[in-house]
Amino acid sequence: MTHFLQLTDLNRDQGQWLMVRAAELKAMQQRGEPHRTLEGKTLGMIFDKASTRTRVSFETGMFQLGGHAVFLHSSTSQLGRGEPVEDSARVLSSMVDIICIRTFAHQTVQRFAEFSSVPVINALTDYTHPCQILADVMTFEAHRGNINGKTVAWIGDGNNMAHSWINGAAVFGYRLHLACPRGYQPDQALIDLARSNGATIELTTDPAEAAHHADLVTTDVWASMGQEAEQKEREAAFAGFQVDGKLMATAKPTALFMHCLPAHRGEEVAAEVIDGPQSVVWDEAENRLHSQKALLELLLNKGNTTPCR
Ligand code: CP
Ligand code: NVA
Repeated sequence: MTHFLQLTDLNRDQGQWLMVRAAELKAMQQRGEPHRTLEGKTLGMIFDKASTRTRVSFETGMFQLGGHAVFLHSSTSQLGRGEPVEDSARVLSSMVDIICIRTFAHQTVQRFAEFSSVPVINALTDYTHPCQILADVMTFEAHRGNINGKTVAWIGDGNNMAHSWINGAAVFGYRLHLACPRGYQPDQALIDLARSNGATIELTTDPAEAAHHADLVTTDVWASMGQEAEQKEREAAFAGFQVDGKLMATAKPTALFMHCLPAHRGEEVAAEVIDGPQSVVWDEAENRLHSQKALLELLLNKGNTTPCR
């Protein structure tokens, strides 16, 4: 394991290790116990898109591990002035130990990784958002135990988050039921790949069918970053796809609700759900910090799941 561009870059052992280590790191942080495993290491952070959680969790995580983070936005660096991605990758990776990138085209991250001499983390592309699933699985397991064999219902756009839930199904062993409107369905190639790796994935256009008996119901915005101009047309296409109390009632009574955030109350989720008793979104957001600290350790330990302390 060199890079973390997709959840499929992880094997099952690495997935399990990340969950155990993330919980351990969270407990240490809460006890105020130092865990400076990455002393002297620097994380380069390249962002072409807005971020609150991802930026703060990576920067803070690196600091808590004894390392340092350098944040570069394309609007204030040469990255936004046309310097080739291959050149930026060679230069930055000669100075830092690990790099995370948030950008539009997934190919940009792939190309960057090809020319980088250090591990590269996908911090969100138009195609996938794998770091978020690490936090989501960690959150589920903290509240409900092992996610293996449990049913996750995805309601809404077949977007980067949906793709990452699909990619994670074979790694973490959950069953995935997706409900997406026609024309907004996820990449069938990812579903086929996950199924060929043993995952159970079902796709429907009916939110109630997907949410039926689910252990976790999750959704995301209807218009992702870069799709702002489609907002109105998407609102019409996603009518009937709001996660509200009625839809949550079709899931198990113990079902949790998650959202990667930022959320739009009254669009993809009703306030009664995101602010209600089944919602674990704040814990989910905090767990970005702990799960990414484990990920940084794993990558800097060359994917080796023996302790790097
Ligand atoms: N969930 C998530 O990635 O949030 P940010 O866009 O704030 O980083
Ligand atoms: N699908 C959303 C996720 C934000 C964390 C987006 O890409 O904007």
